[in-house]
Amino acid sequence: MDAFTDIRLAGVSYAFGSHTVLNQIDLEIPAGTVMALLGPSGCGKSTLLRLLAGLTQPAAGTIHFGTRLVAKSGWALPPELRNIGMVFQDYALWPHMTVEQNVAFPLKMRRVAHTERERRVAGALARVGLSEFAGRKPAGLSGGQQQRVALARAIVAEPRVLLFDEPLSNLDSELRESLCRDMATLLRQLGITAVYVTHDRREAEILADRIVHLSAGRVDAIRSVTSSSGETA
Ligand SMILES: Nc1ncnc2c1ncn2[C@@H]1O[C@H](COP(=O)(O)OP(=O)(O)OP(=O)(O)O)[C@@H](O)[C@H]1O
Ligand SMILES: [Mg+2]
Repeated sequence: MDAFTDIRLAGVSYAFGSHTVLNQIDLEIPAGTVMALLGPSGCGKSTLLRLLAGLTQPAAGTIHFGTRLVAKSGWALPPELRNIGMVFQDYALWPHMTVEQNVAFPLKMRRVAHTERERRVAGALARVGLSEFAGRKPAGLSGGQQQRVALARAIVAEPRVLLFDEPLSNLDSELRESLCRDMATLLRQLGITAVYVTHDRREAEILADRIVHLSAGRVDAIRSVTSSSGETA
């Protein structure tokens, strides 16, 4: 597998028509860092995450994963070639597949052999505490359990970058905090580079090593999180 990677954005801008959504973003995310993107609704968090995923292209600037150029003005390396895992607010699980089949899907796409696939799926499900639910369909799971399945699916192919867009905002507050702490522990164990979009300061402080404050498409401030303000692994 690829080594975990640092991410560098230089002069990244993005616009919807005449509306500038991201304005000259410069940002460095060291390998193995969990970076939270925090900011009010509409400030450009999801747009920035979509650029990191390769779901859209910048109007200007460059994005590098390590030494590899993954995006520049009008061009983006597609998501399936970036070796990333993604978790969204709405889980995005396939309802007709069991938990096991959902988690195995990225490995099938990569043509990983059957035995190896079973081993990795079992490992990912154990990491998120869902081994006993392997045969269930998503409809038979709680929201928190469904999001754990999405998390297992995101890590099963051992990506070099994990991207999260408000993964906990559909859950009630008590569950949100406990799942947030579990994810913080998991991310520390994996040692992976991760970008975590949220508008919840508490979540950002529990999960992240650093918090980037976005405001109206610009980086307002970047600060390090001390272990006393959040969870330590
Ligand atoms: N498809 C689109 N067409 C036009 N404008 C859009 C489109 N998608 C997003 N925008 C605008 O781009 C800006 C940034 O949107 P983005 O989704 O990145 O914000 P966000 O920070 O993720 O907000 P939220 O916290 O509500 O998810 C907003 O002003 C939004 O209205
Ligand atoms: Mg958003």
